Amino acid sequence: MSEFLQFPSNFLWGVATSAHQIEGDNTLSDWWAWEHSPLRIKKLESKGAYPPDFQSGKAADHWVHWKEDSELIKGLNCNAYRCSVEWARLEPRDGEWDVNAAEHYRKEFKTLQDSGIRLVVTLNHFTLPLWAAQKGGWAHKDTVSRFVRFAEFAFGAFQEFTDYWVTLNEPVIYAAKSYLQGEWPPQKHNFFLFLTVLRNQIWAHRVIFQRLHAKDVYCQVGIAKNNQFFGAFHEGSKVDRAFALASGFLWNRWFLNKLGQKFDFLGLNYYFLNRVHFPFVSSIKEGFVSDLGWSIYPQGIEKVLLDLARFGRPILITENGVADREDHLRKEFIRGHLYYIHRAMQKGANVKGYFHWSLLDNFEWSEGFGPRFGLYEVDYNTFERKARPSALYYAQICKNNGIEI
Ligand code: BGC
Repeated sequence: MSEFLQFPSNFLWGVATSAHQIEGDNTLSDWWAWEHSPLRIKKLESKGAYPPDFQSGKAADHWVHWKEDSELIKGLNCNAYRCSVEWARLEPRDGEWDVNAAEHYRKEFKTLQDSGIRLVVTLNHFTLPLWAAQKGGWAHKDTVSRFVRFAEFAFGAFQEFTDYWVTLNEPVIYAAKSYLQGEWPPQKHNFFLFLTVLRNQIWAHRVIFQRLHAKDVYCQVGIAKNNQFFGAFHEGSKVDRAFALASGFLWNRWFLNKLGQKFDFLGLNYYFLNRVHFPFVSSIKEGFVSDLGWSIYPQGIEKVLLDLARFGRPILITENGVADREDHLRKEFIRGHLYYIHRAMQKGANVKGYFHWSLLDNFEWSEGFGPRFGLYEVDYNTFERKARPSALYYAQICKNNGIEI
C-alpha cells in the first residue's frame, strides 16, 4: 500500500543552477581564462580529450534563453529558484559596475517574481572576475573587502526580488579543489594557502552578514555548505567508526562553527556516500552509482540534516541531484531523498525547502559537458531544452506538495 508524505504548506520547491555553468560567454572570469589557457588545453589534448568539451563556451546559453528557462521553472510547478549572479559580469573591472548586466538580471528576477517564484541568490559560486583572481583571488586578504563591496552592490540591485542570500557556495570544496588538490584554478597544492582561503572566506561571510543586516534587519543571509555522510567501511571496526565520526565533524562542522552563528539559515548541498576505512576516506562504489561514479545514498541526508539541525537555524536544501544522462536513476533518486528529508523533518530538522540540482544540463566544471544533471536535457548545438521523464515526476511532487511512497 502506498503512503502519501505531505510537506508543510509553505514548503519551497525549487531547482538550482549557477551562472558560469549555464549562462555562457563568461569571458571576464578566471574560469574562462583557465579553460582557454595553453597549459590546460595541452593537458586535455595529451589525454586524448577534445578541449571545447571542457570549455564553458555558450554553456546552456541561458543569458539568451532566460525567458524560456523561467517558463521551464514555472512548468515544473516550482515556487522557488536558486541561481547565482556573476561577479565578473557585474564588476568587469575593479570598481566598475556594468549597469546593463545588472538590468539583465533584474529583468529575469522580476519575471520570476511576477510568476510567484521565490528567489535564492548566491553571490559567489566558485568563479571570480579575472582581475580579482590576478590580484591573488581568495588567497589575498583584499579579496575580502572587494567581495564585500560586490555583495553590497548586488544587495542594492536585487534586494527587492531576493528572499534568501547565499554568500558562498561550498567554500570548503572550492578551497580543497583549487588550493590543495590542484584540480581547479589556480591549481595550487599548498596547505597554507588552503587555510588562508578558508579564513578569508569565513571573514568575508561574517562581514557580509553584518553589512546586509545593517541595511535590512529582516534580510536572510546564509551559506551553501557541502555536507557529507561518512560511514564506517567495517561497521564492526571501532577505529573505522571513530574515524568516520571525526571525518564528519571536521568536514561538516568545522567551517560552520567558525561562522559564529552569523547565518539566518543554512544551505545544504548533499550528493553521495563516503566510506571510511582508517586512514582513508573514499567515495566507494556501493548500490546505485551515478555517471560520475558517485554512490547514491539517500539515507545519509537524514543523518546530515539532523546533524545540521543542531545549529538551530532553518535549513534549505540548496542542492541535491544526480549525473544521469539516461535518466534511469533520477526519479528514484528524488523519491529516496525526499523520503529521508521528510523523516528528518519529522524528527525535528527545520527544512524550509528543496532545490533540485539542476534545472538544466550544464557545464560541470573540470568535468566539462559530459555529466548530465538536468531535469531538462540540453542539446548543446541548438540549445533546445527537452524535459526528461524525471522532470514530469518532479513537477507532480511540486504540485502535490508531497510524494507517494
Ligand atoms: C556544485 C555544483 C556542481 C554540483 C555537481 C556542487 O558541488 O555546487 O556547481 O555542479 O555539485 O557536481
